[in-house]
Amino acid sequence: MSKKTSINKITDLSLIGNGDCLALMKMLSDASVDLILTDPPYNLGLFMKKRGTNIKGMRDNHFAYAGWDDLEYKKWRTEMKKFLTECHRVLKKRGALLMFMSIIKVETIIELATNAGLYYKTVGIWHKTNPMPRNMNLHFINSTEPWLYFINDAATGTFNNNGKPIHDYVETSTISAIEHKIGGHPTQKPKSLLEHFVKILTNEGDTVLDPFMGSGSTGVVCEYTNRKFIGFELNNDYYKTAEDRIIKKI
Ligand SMILES: C[S@@+](CC[C@H](N)C(=O)[O-])C[C@H]1O[C@@H](n2cnc3c(N)ncnc32)[C@H](O)[C@@H]1O
Repeated sequence: MSKKTSINKITDLSLIGNGDCLALMKMLSDASVDLILTDPPYNLGLFMKKRGTNIKGMRDNHFAYAGWDDLEYKKWRTEMKKFLTECHRVLKKRGALLMFMSIIKVETIIELATNAGLYYKTVGIWHKTNPMPRNMNLHFINSTEPWLYFINDAATGTFNNNGKPIHDYVETSTISAIEHKIGGHPTQKPKSLLEHFVKILTNEGDTVLDPFMGSGSTGVVCEYTNRKFIGFELNNDYYKTAEDRIIKKI
């Protein structure tokens, strides 16, 4: 958690850093970001291990073995509080925070974000149309992930709906085999899902920050939608993948 590095310019639009996002965010100026679009670890590692879930058997590079996913609840809450306080500082007034999170953590995030100065707008759902039918004869198939939407220091911000109603759920398939081969991340989000939010919540030339960028999916979307991107990642292998993907726009 103490690793601190520089922030490197890798394309005309993108700056990325390999290290702890809390340390790296400190290097950003106040009120310099239009949108924070991010998919932090859901901190379900201990929860799943305590339930005896064979997560190691499910996948070798499973999310429960990544940073911030194995914390005791109190520690996770403290880290999230610091993170959301930094979000409030770096976001412009009327900038937005859109973050994915496990449904059992939604209430905590709303409380912490509101206390940090972010105005709560929406909890929405990402519905995966083709989830893995794991244990389908034992329980409901897990096919959804919530996302939370906040505005900084105001009640409204950029919302490019082009006069059309936009529902609080998004449906896409999970990442294709090709997209997964390129990113190789256990919790990689589809680019189409991230593009949906980037286009609604920002305009061309705006700055988007992803402090937990994983394989860099948000950065790739920013490159081809002409947004400036700042991304951080703790894990060196994922960081290198993100750098490669963002440079190649793949
Ligand atoms: C849920 S994944 C993001 C996946 C990403 N959306 C993608 O499409 O590839 C969260 C990422 O946050 C990283 N991470 C965990 N703790 C971190 C920290 N303190 N600072 C920066 N990155 C961190 C993990 O290594 C992991 O790659």
